[in-house]
Amino acid sequence: MLGSRALLACLVIASVAYFAVSAEFFKPFNVSYDHRALIIDGKRRMLISAGIHYPRATPEMWPDLIAKSKEGGADMIQSYVFWNGHEPIRGQYNFEGRYDIVKFVKLVGSSGLYLHLRIGPYVCAEWNFGGFPVWLRDVPGIEFRTNNAPFKEEMHRFVKMIVDLMLDEMLFSWQGGPIILLQIENEYGNIESSYGQRGKDYVKWAASMAIGLGAGVPWVMCKQTDAPENIIDACNGFYCDGFKPNSYRKPVLWTEDWNGWFASWGGRVPHRPVEDIAFAIARFFERGGSYQNYYMYFGGTNFGRTSGGPFYITSYDYDAPIDEYGLLSQPKWGHLKDLHAAIKLCEPALVAVDDSPQYIKLGPKQEAHVYHQYEGLHLNQSGKEIRCSAFLANIDERKAATVKFFGRVYTLPPWSVSILPDCKNVAFNTAKVGAQTSIKSLGYGSLSSNIMGPGQPLHHDEVSFVSKAWKTIKEPIGAWGERNFTVQGLLEHLNVTKDTSDYLWYITRINMSDDDISYWENTGINPTLSINSMRDVVRIFVNGQHAGSTVGHWVQVVHPLNLSQGYNELAILSQTVGLQNSGAFLEKDGAGFKGQIKLTGLKNGEMDLTNSFWTYQVGLKGEFMKLYALENTEQADWIELPPESSSSMFTWYKTYFDVPDGVDPVALDLGTMGKGQAWVNGHNIGRHWSLVAPKEGCQNTCDYRGTYNERKCATNCGKPTQNWYHVPRSWLRASNNLLVIFEETGGNPLEIVVKSHSTKTICAQVSESYYPPLSIWSHEDVIQGKISLNDVAPEMKLRCDDGQTISTITFASYGTPQGSCRQFSMGNCHAPSSMSVVSEACQGKNSCSLNVSNAAFGVDPCHGIVKTLAVEANCISSTDSGPGVAQL
Ligand code: GAL
Repeated sequence: MLGSRALLACLVIASVAYFAVSAEFFKPFNVSYDHRALIIDGKRRMLISAGIHYPRATPEMWPDLIAKSKEGGADMIQSYVFWNGHEPIRGQYNFEGRYDIVKFVKLVGSSGLYLHLRIGPYVCAEWNFGGFPVWLRDVPGIEFRTNNAPFKEEMHRFVKMIVDLMLDEMLFSWQGGPIILLQIENEYGNIESSYGQRGKDYVKWAASMAIGLGAGVPWVMCKQTDAPENIIDACNGFYCDGFKPNSYRKPVLWTEDWNGWFASWGGRVPHRPVEDIAFAIARFFERGGSYQNYYMYFGGTNFGRTSGGPFYITSYDYDAPIDEYGLLSQPKWGHLKDLHAAIKLCEPALVAVDDSPQYIKLGPKQEAHVYHQYEGLHLNQSGKEIRCSAFLANIDERKAATVKFFGRVYTLPPWSVSILPDCKNVAFNTAKVGAQTSIKSLGYGSLSSNIMGPGQPLHHDEVSFVSKAWKTIKEPIGAWGERNFTVQGLLEHLNVTKDTSDYLWYITRINMSDDDISYWENTGINPTLSINSMRDVVRIFVNGQHAGSTVGHWVQVVHPLNLSQGYNELAILSQTVGLQNSGAFLEKDGAGFKGQIKLTGLKNGEMDLTNSFWTYQVGLKGEFMKLYALENTEQADWIELPPESSSSMFTWYKTYFDVPDGVDPVALDLGTMGKGQAWVNGHNIGRHWSLVAPKEGCQNTCDYRGTYNERKCATNCGKPTQNWYHVPRSWLRASNNLLVIFEETGGNPLEIVVKSHSTKTICAQVSESYYPPLSIWSHEDVIQGKISLNDVAPEMKLRCDDGQTISTITFASYGTPQGSCRQFSMGNCHAPSSMSVVSEACQGKNSCSLNVSNAAFGVDPCHGIVKTLAVEANCISSTDSGPGVAQL
């Protein structure tokens, strides 16, 4: 019999357990699908999803990112699951901090959004090794992503663990959680043919393994034309309209809408114009699509050594609607929010059509798709029409078109879609941007710079150097510790490092005779080191002196060496810059060197060093000592950095710095440094590298019209690909933040700048002929016909970042203003009240709305002419006016 204490304990446990069960985010619901859409709780849905990878932000950023996604019109969030983050060592799991996936999923649920979890566990994603833990290479007999027993066992174990975790935490929809969709594998169709029949068998195995886990929600495979019947094959790409799944029973899903692109060190920075993104999405829903996910809605940062490669930069901004720092990227975010609202207005008609929409050819490159909703879901044409929504598309890349549709005339800009939720009135056109433009405080080196502006330098306020007081310490060249070992022959880089560091020293001794020296003197020949093939970076040192470096992906190395008579120490530093994340046979890829290493130009020909004795040293001494950790940093013999000191290789620097007040995100400009890694308060903020993008290949203006690819609308030509590095606020305190930098090639730490990142200038331009605000469509009086949409004035919305207010209106004109943001000028027609009306409505506020109508400005400044309102305003931190209290 239980004692009363034990009974009490049982009751407590029971009530806790009961609590966990009842802490649902939703009333439990089922998810299924048919040929038209996902069916959520019995209803077909048109879904907008926002791609956010949880480890590319901090948990402190997650709530705001999710809230901004929801406000932007997303119904759901999509993320991959990052195996190498969760199981860095086999059997040792990490579900903490940025890898606290349960917390992330719960935050999504508590915000009322759904979740698509793409478990992979291969994810690609420009993520180190495509998400695979590096130890996976060492499983005996393993071959990745094919019909291979050891691989399947590991994959099954991890996928099952994630599904079980979600089940235990009650996170699937039928348990009241947000997860409505899963994904197994990732774009396996790209490499399947490399594996022949074993690839096909693997697809079948992966599908049935996934289904067998009892998650109870549908699974997708993307880019998988042979996905089995019980798995939805989905589309990835810049455009997915016209995509057909491999069975009539499956809906058209777009798992990755590439609304931007990633960047590589030394590459240009890609941008995708929002008019084209909106066009692609409108076309997708127009032509029968039912789920679209932004890859990425927020890209974030590849902190630490998480970026894939080779050579992907630390920023994963992706030119996404929410920038790397978590701020809205405008007009992208705002224009897409309007698009989502327009699509949602069409949802009842879109889901009601069972087969194809009515297709009407409107012109040579113009077409309409009409969704009629009749009384009774499946009554075709015969029932009473209760609703009708239409999309009018002009796919002409150059010319606007005037078309006639159901007796009315519409003008369609080139490469655009108009959305008519009632088949009459235009709610939205993809090429007409009414949303505000935001210009931020970080310069053009930043990915978040706005390329649509007319080439003016971006706002630069006072430069704030991180510190003038630095300490320094040299990193040894070659072997530094007892952890090194010597063996004969060349070992493969990853086999030695296990990717615990980017760096691996290969050290050997070479003996040069008098004869060699005189041979070189007499002939003028230089002894030369050659390596058949290497990746990603090698730096060669002879007797501690730098002899040359090569950067490349499986390229040959040839460097003349300055050798002395007798023994010379040859130290070669092999480096990885993000492990390969795509392609077949990843486990065989490896890093470092392939083929022979030899010395040529000797008196007796050449010396093959491939089978010499080599000493191996993994990592840097400073890394091993954790020089960057708050608790260790004082233990090293740092010396003061003299102010006039010159740039030096293989050097550690450290300082303490204070952060700008306020809540704005913080960034460091490491543009004066060369290559290495940086840590703030012990957190690795990522690799830095000042490689410069090619001078050519950027356009001055970006034309949204026509098919997009990642080379179009690139910026940053002739400039370092990345200058600014995000330091999340939650890693900082108000003062005395430890910054430690490892520098390989040389740089000037004295000129490192710290800045807070925020929107400084906002601009918008809305004409009185623009469509009314999307929200008016759901207004009771409009629905009941008491107010006609034509009587509702268009609206201009202005908004500064959170914690900021509109300080000054620098331009306001209702009339015929000219130019664009930062270059507005007044036209012949101008309402004198413009400035006072706008100031009254906006000044001192975080956001404001303005009606664009004669009534709002109390006058018709030029009768018979279409008027436009153009406004430019500045934002300042709300705390700037009050006491400067630092908030973290
Ligand atoms: C896709 C892949 C994603 C990502 C994307 C490019 O092919 O599925 O994981 O790598 O390309 O950003």
